[in-house]
Amino acid sequence: MTVLVARDTRFYEWMPTLWHAPDARDNFERKPQLAHETAVRNATLTGAYLIMAARTLGLACGPMSGFDAAGVNRSFFSDGRWEVDFLVNLGYPASPSSRPRAHRLAFAEASRWHEPAT
Ligand SMILES: Cc1cc2nc3c(=O)[nH]c(=O)nc-3n(C[C@H](O)[C@H](O)[C@H](O)COP(=O)(O)O)c2cc1C
Repeated sequence: MTVLVARDTRFYEWMPTLWHAPDARDNFERKPQLAHETAVRNATLTGAYLIMAARTLGLACGPMSGFDAAGVNRSFFSDGRWEVDFLVNLGYPASPSSRPRAHRLAFAEASRWHEPAT
């Protein structure tokens, strides 16, 4: 199965249901750049949670961003409201060790650490 992880560009229409601040919907509607950045961040994070949950259930996940996003949007989201972020191919692995994990950077290579000034 292939999941299309996508953002609802008008997610803020749900704010009265999802969020306590009464002006949240209008605030995003007035600020399209903020709305876009928020939609991208939250859809991507939600896709990451999907990967973690699927792996917890024993599924293998193959996330992909190397695809024709405009073509996917035309085919699946033709009204323009939703936009694809990335794809996740899900399935049961033929064997748990069928493919070795890719290299991971060490913490010191992948992060910056700043001590507070005293
Ligand atoms: C958001 C995202 C997009 C990715 N897009 C691609 C892709 O387009 N093509 C590809 O070969 N690997 C892509 N990868 C990497 C692979 O799906 C896979 O995660 C990587 O090979 C590491 O595999 P491992 O977790 O089994 O070590 C992507 C990974 C992520 C998280």
